[in-house]
Amino acid sequence: MAVRPAYKQLAQLAMLAKKRAHAPYSHFRVGAALLTSENEVYTGCNIEISTYALTVCAERTAIFKAISEGRTKFKAIAVVSDDPGYTPPCGACRQVLMDLAGNIDFVMVNGRGATKVLKLKSLLPHAFGQKNLERTKKRHH
Ligand code: THU
Repeated sequence: MAVRPAYKQLAQLAMLAKKRAHAPYSHFRVGAALLTSENEVYTGCNIEISTYALTVCAERTAIFKAISEGRTKFKAIAVVSDDPGYTPPCGACRQVLMDLAGNIDFVMVNGRGATKVLKLKSLLPHAFGQKNLERTKKRHH
């Protein structure tokens, strides 16, 4: 029987990453920790910009760091904020994670450090993806 990996350590690394959040506008601080297939961890925090729309979420900071360092295979991402409850990812991050990491485990961490694990696919059913682009390419050639 497959054993679900322990995500407690990943959650703790997300909590540490949250300390580096740059959130002077919303004051909503978020930390993320992305686990690669080789059990390395890339962390991220949200980074807010004065023209608010340029803000980057913690999840995207983490995955862009990992991709830019040559990592391409992932197992899970843990996310935590100062909200005592669980923090679900925004729609933009769901798409970015699905494209770049696939159907990984999304580990929501609450203020007590408790975790709730959801498959990314359950957070983004019927996702748009590269496969959709490929189908139209075939038709036009
Ligand atoms: N935010 C994240 O970094 N990740 C999430 O999963 C939810 C939202 C950030 C974006 C913005 O800096 C702040 O939280 C409030 O939306």
